[in-house]
Amino acid sequence: MPLVFDVYGTLLDVDAAARQALKTHPQLEAIWPQLSARWRERQLSYSWLRSLMQDYKPFWQITCDALDVTLEEFDINDDAMRQTLLDLYLHLSSFDEVPDVLARLKSEGHPLAVLSNGDPQMLNTALQSAGIKGLLDGILSVDSLQCYKPDPKVYSMVTDQYDCQPQDVLFFSSNNWDIAGARQFGFRTIWVNRGQKIWDKLSSPPQQEVTNLTAAVDALNTAR
Ligand code: LAC
Repeated sequence: MPLVFDVYGTLLDVDAAARQALKTHPQLEAIWPQLSARWRERQLSYSWLRSLMQDYKPFWQITCDALDVTLEEFDINDDAMRQTLLDLYLHLSSFDEVPDVLARLKSEGHPLAVLSNGDPQMLNTALQSAGIKGLLDGILSVDSLQCYKPDPKVYSMVTDQYDCQPQDVLFFSSNNWDIAGARQFGFRTIWVNRGQKIWDKLSSPPQQEVTNLTAAVDALNTAR
């Protein structure tokens, strides 16, 4: 049974870029959490809008676009800061428990894959730099489809790749809308609710909810 993980927000910490940029750009001190949140919200809304409009741009491009508009929103005109934030986003750290959990699952014989909005180049760089690329059997990117999650076509990449049924796939994501889309497609789902958020009024709630991936591994036994 393939275990499939979302990347941004689930394995990699999307707030790490703005948090780490503080070291070289102390003027971010008071605003980095809001700036990071707005950047992420805008990045995701661009992905949904571009999917609906059938006007695909790779995730790296919309990540840059989203940052540019967010910096404008915060009245920041600082090319050096922009470059720092983008460099850090390309090399986001993983959440602390991620390497050990993936290594444990791999040693138990599970095929491990990621399914992400990230384009292949962005994913390769980020997963390599976080030290987890070698633990993954599959890196599935929406880029070959030119549309974004939660389009059902994206989730079908997994069943095509592993020649399996949706119910054979266990999918982990911290993004509630991604969990809803995956569940709607028929995957079994574990919501890695890192931010202790409340469930939105979306159909297809998760079958399990945990706060980090260590807890998810324990939940795995009951999800089988
Ligand atoms: C991803 C985004 C949605 O990795 O987090 O697909």
